[in-house]
Amino acid sequence: MKIKRLEFLFLTLLLLSFIMLSYPKNAEIRAGTKILQERSFQVEEWEKRLNQRQPPIKIMDAIGLKQGMTIGEIGAGTGRMTMWLADRVGESGKVYANDIDRSALDHLRRRYKRDGFKNVETVIGKMDNPGFSFGSLDVVFMINVYHHLAESDPIIRNIRPSLKPDGMLVIVECDPEKVDWGDEHGCSRKEDMIDDLKKAGFEVVRIETFLEEDSIYIAKPIISF
Ligand SMILES: C[S@@+](CC[C@H](N)C(=O)[O-])C[C@H]1O[C@@H](n2cnc3c(N)ncnc32)[C@H](O)[C@@H]1O
Repeated sequence: MKIKRLEFLFLTLLLLSFIMLSYPKNAEIRAGTKILQERSFQVEEWEKRLNQRQPPIKIMDAIGLKQGMTIGEIGAGTGRMTMWLADRVGESGKVYANDIDRSALDHLRRRYKRDGFKNVETVIGKMDNPGFSFGSLDVVFMINVYHHLAESDPIIRNIRPSLKPDGMLVIVECDPEKVDWGDEHGCSRKEDMIDDLKKAGFEVVRIETFLEEDSIYIAKPIISF
């Protein structure tokens, strides 16, 4: 009888310690899930606003992006534009999504898997080199990134080898002729963009100005550079 009581006590203690050990974990998981849900809600809200300012389809049409193209996106972040690019180039095309931020690319990877895209691959880059393969890309695309670059010249020079012979570099950048966000934001002036790109071996062949706050620079490698 005494032994049974001891057994009962032992089992009760075991059960209690199991509940106590597992409770904080469950609470942490619930808190973690909530944070993730809030974060993805914030990302979605931010994307919605940015897509109104920079309508992806209009931008892709203006550049002339087509099915079957291979695109390298620099500074893809959480993949706002990547998904539109992947949809446009289709299964016969490919998007290499680069960033220096590993956690952003993790988010992007989860996203394209969730949405069933098989034509996207992430590429972790260096500050001065996106790390795309030689002669592989029809287009290198950059949106809301140029003014974030610590130094634009080295990375722009390192884009050149990854382009196919008739490949192009496309940069969507806020335009200080249209917005006044101060020096801190650092939107690049048209003259500076043209000059910087020339020094890094690209000639701006077309500038699209239809966006309200941004301009689109389409540049080709200077052959004699
Ligand atoms: C404002 S976010 C833009 C994200 C995305 N392009 C969009 O418009 O939704 C700027 C991104 O550029 C990335 N970035 C900054 N410098 C970079 C570099 N040298 N190479 C690659 N990515 C860079 C940042 O990590 C960040 O994800």
